[in-house]
Amino acid sequence: MKEIGIALLGLGNVGLGTYRILADHARDIERRLGARVRVRHILVRDSGRARPEDVPAALITRDIAPILADPEVSVVVEVMGGLSPAREFLEKAIASGRHVVTANKALLTAHGEALFSQALARGVDLHFEGAVCGGIPIIRTLREALASDRVSSIHGIVNGTTNFILSAMADEGSTYEDALARAQKLGYAEADPTLDVNGMDAAQKLCLLASLAFAARVSPKDVHVEGITSLRPVDITLGREAGYVLKLLAIARRLPEGLDVRVHPAFIPGASPLADVRGAFNAVLLQSAALGASLFSGLGAGSLPTGSAVVSDIIDICRNLLAGVSGRLPMLSAPYVQEVPQIPSDER
Ligand code: HSE
Repeated sequence: MKEIGIALLGLGNVGLGTYRILADHARDIERRLGARVRVRHILVRDSGRARPEDVPAALITRDIAPILADPEVSVVVEVMGGLSPAREFLEKAIASGRHVVTANKALLTAHGEALFSQALARGVDLHFEGAVCGGIPIIRTLREALASDRVSSIHGIVNGTTNFILSAMADEGSTYEDALARAQKLGYAEADPTLDVNGMDAAQKLCLLASLAFAARVSPKDVHVEGITSLRPVDITLGREAGYVLKLLAIARRLPEGLDVRVHPAFIPGASPLADVRGAFNAVLLQSAALGASLFSGLGAGSLPTGSAVVSDIIDICRNLLAGVSGRLPMLSAPYVQEVPQIPSDER
């Protein structure tokens, strides 16, 4: 059977989820593709960390060089997170003609335009379904299914950690600290959980969603961001007594005067479909001209849900490789986005 070689950069939570989905679903993937996806290398940075038993030692490398030197590697999958060396590794992989997949929203919001332009110039794919909302196929939805429609607003719960914390405080009476510690243990939080609780992780994801929804250039500096760190248990209790649920919302709206893009805690009515989204679940409520309201929900964080999104990108690329056709254009590169006036935050 034909094989397509891939390399994973990173073996943390998402890297391991990606590896395990590829291993556990190997038969199904083979049936779908008529070919086998073989992990040929796994780059890890921290040599001191224990390697999971199901990952063969022979796959592990600490250097990108053997990956780039291996002609059998067609796809490089960045699941290490952080800006550096993830950016340099991806650039090298693109320059060497490898298709790339990343789940790194921080990297894409900081340097996405340059990376997408490099991929476009080199004629390779850069896919990123795992970067936003874990296992929910929201990137594909906005990029493909709703490309025909005119999205007017996005209201989302896009950070699993903060939703887990707020749900645990509201439903179980947990303390903030205890709920955060549990979210970290369950593998929902970022390596630096400050990014979750201060709203930046949600802001980065919202930038990617809004860029796709509005074919616009939206970066974190355009987003008004407030996290959940200053909330108190009494805020949750008082809200509930009035029939509201406190959530960290990511909101992007197309207004006549420009885009309004924001992340902040909000009291939402108990009857809203977003009110029932609990734990590490995420949900994105879209309003668009043709479809009207549509709701997408599922596990937004965690090893296997995010790994499944990463693997879906790998499969997409493999399909194209096997068919000998070029892949999807990297939509967020300069030729495909435009400047849309942002509403200054003091006017919001
Ligand atoms: N830390 C992120 C979250 C992981 O809690 O949603 C998924 O992007």
